[in-house]
Formats: sequence, structure tokens, C-alpha cells
Amino acid sequence: MNVNRRHLLTGSIGAAAVALVASACASEDGDSGSGGGKKVGIAMPTKTSERWILDGDNLKAAFEDKGYEVSLQYANDVAADQVSQIETMVGQGVNVLVIAAIDNKSLSGALAQAKEADIKVIAYDRLILDTPDVDYYTSFDNTKVGTLQGTYIAEKLGLDAGEAGPFNIELFAGALTDNNARYFFDGAMAVLQPYIDGGQLVVLSGQTDLEQVATENWDGAVAQDRMETILTSFYTAGQQVDAVLAPFDGISRGIIAALDGAGYTTMPIVTGQDAEVDSVKYIIAGTQSMTVYKDTRLLAEVTVDMAVDILEGKDPEINDDTTYDNGDHVVPAYLLEPVSVDATNYQAELIDSGYITEDQLQ
Ligand code: GAL
Repeated sequence: MNVNRRHLLTGSIGAAAVALVASACASEDGDSGSGGGKKVGIAMPTKTSERWILDGDNLKAAFEDKGYEVSLQYANDVAADQVSQIETMVGQGVNVLVIAAIDNKSLSGALAQAKEADIKVIAYDRLILDTPDVDYYTSFDNTKVGTLQGTYIAEKLGLDAGEAGPFNIELFAGALTDNNARYFFDGAMAVLQPYIDGGQLVVLSGQTDLEQVATENWDGAVAQDRMETILTSFYTAGQQVDAVLAPFDGISRGIIAALDGAGYTTMPIVTGQDAEVDSVKYIIAGTQSMTVYKDTRLLAEVTVDMAVDILEGKDPEINDDTTYDNGDHVVPAYLLEPVSVDATNYQAELIDSGYITEDQLQ
């Protein structure tokens, strides 16, 4: 059954159908209760963003459904607190750890303790770096997330069709402590850089390096501040921003707030990621242009299957063993496909698949 589902994941059918298959699997597995007596420790980064709440809830429910005991911890984006939480879970004798890291380089000590206690570690969504003690990785194709964002901008401005512009673009990336930030940015810049080099896109701020455009803690307020500063420093002679590369919906909404405060009545193209409800409302209203939808229900399913295989002494299924080198070793991964969503397909991708309800959008 799992094998069939996984074929579907990489196949060509839509997310809606995949989600239906996944939920059917979940309920069939539901009463097997194979996990009796075993404990799972889940470390999530923060409750300030909707996606991590969904991730934690989905994981917890799926593990409990299979009979596992679950400790689910959030660390409010404070890396040291997440380290303590993991150490505590190791001390409590969990059998497997699922970790979405806050700071990808802060966990070596805690994971060494896990290894010592024979606890396997799955890096969830965000790869953990510079440690031998991370065993598996479940995530989405993170480069493709950036490619979808960059391609959206190129297509909407008509760059790919030869529009000369020049168009003004500003660039934002995620937190430097998150390995994903570089993959998203590099994926987007692989599309956008040739247009910058060719003069069709202009970055008036001149800020194009990842270090310059990163956003601490992925915080929308930090992004809003930076966008306000850019507008008041570089857009002083009537220039307009035509597009903003934004890596995550929380950051997109901060940028939109800055543009709104500066008097923009028509928004430039603004990208995003995670299909957060507030951003989907913006997409419907025409304020945010797109988001990259990553079905966290599927990520939870894949992760739970992987953990169960590990706990039952089986080799978990992976579909990538080349992409994610954590500085110590290539971490075997199971990667899912992200989907570009805008006003034209949100209904099919998000509503019809049950990821978001109509009610949530009221
Ligand atoms: C990343 C994740 C994104 C987004 C971001 C901010 O690691 O892959 O989907 O959620 O963190 O939370």
C-alpha cells in the first residue's frame, strides 16, 4: 500500500488525489496499533507560523493513531530551548526523534546523546548540518520551491517571452540558520540571475547576496522593516517596485504591509510559500501573487511511515540519496513535490484537496 502511494507521489496526478490516497492509507493503518509502548519525540520550531502547528498536529495524530506515545515540543524559535527539549526527550527514553531544527548547526551535542542512547533521528523539513548523528531526512524538493517562485516572476513579467523591462525587483530570503533558505534562494536565483545580468531586472537596493537578503527567524516584522528601509532609501524618485522574491508567506505579508504603508494601491508581484490561510486570502484579494503549497499532511505521512519502519527494524523507503549532504554525510531523504498556487488554481489545489476549507477563507 505504501509503495503504491509513493509511486503516486512522484507521478503526475494532482495533489488532491494524492491527499485522498494518503488519508485512506492513514485510516486503514489506524487500528493496527503497532507502536505499543514505544515513544516518539517531536521537536518543532515555533507556533508563530501556522504551518508548524499543522505539522506538529498531523505528526502527533498519525503516530498516536498507530499506537505510539508522543512528546510534541515547540521552542518559540529559541535554538537553545530546542536543544534542551531534545535532551529532555532523550532522557525520557524516546525511541525515535523527529526534528525540525531552529538552528541547523546547534544540535550536534544533543544528537550525540541521542546516538549514545541508540535513538534514530529524522530531520523533518529542515536538514540538520555538521553531525554524523542524523539518520534520515524528509522534506520537499527545496530547490524546486525556489524555481517555482523565480519562474512565476519571470512569467508574469513576460521576461521569458522577451519583455525588455527594465523591471525593479527586490529579493528576500529566509533565516541563515535554516539550511532550506539557501536552497530556496539558489533555486529562484538560477531563474532570475540571467535577467538581472541582462538588465531586464534591476535590484535598486543592490542587495543580492544571501547574507544581505536573509530574514532572521523568517520573521515577517523583520522583513517589513527591511522593505520599508529599501523603499525610503532607494525608491525616492518615483520608481516603483515591480516584483518581490519572498520565500515564505509570513515574510510576504510583512513586505506587503511595507508596500501598503508606502501607498501602493496595486501590489507588485509578491511570491510566497506554505499556503498559509492569511496569504491565500491575500491571493484571492490580489494582494499576494502566489504561494508554494507543500502538503504537510503528506510530509507527516511519509515521516511517520519512515519512523515506523525504523522502529520495526526495516529499511525505510527513500527516493533521494545524493542531494542533501549535511557536511558530514549525504543524508538519505524522502522528498515530496511542491506546487505553485495562485488565484487560478487555489480552489483545485487547496480547497478541493481539503487542505484549507472555504470557512477558513471567510
Ligand atoms: C522553512 C520551511 C518553509 C517555511 C519556513 C518558515 O524551513 O521549509 O516551508 O515554513 O521554514 O517557517
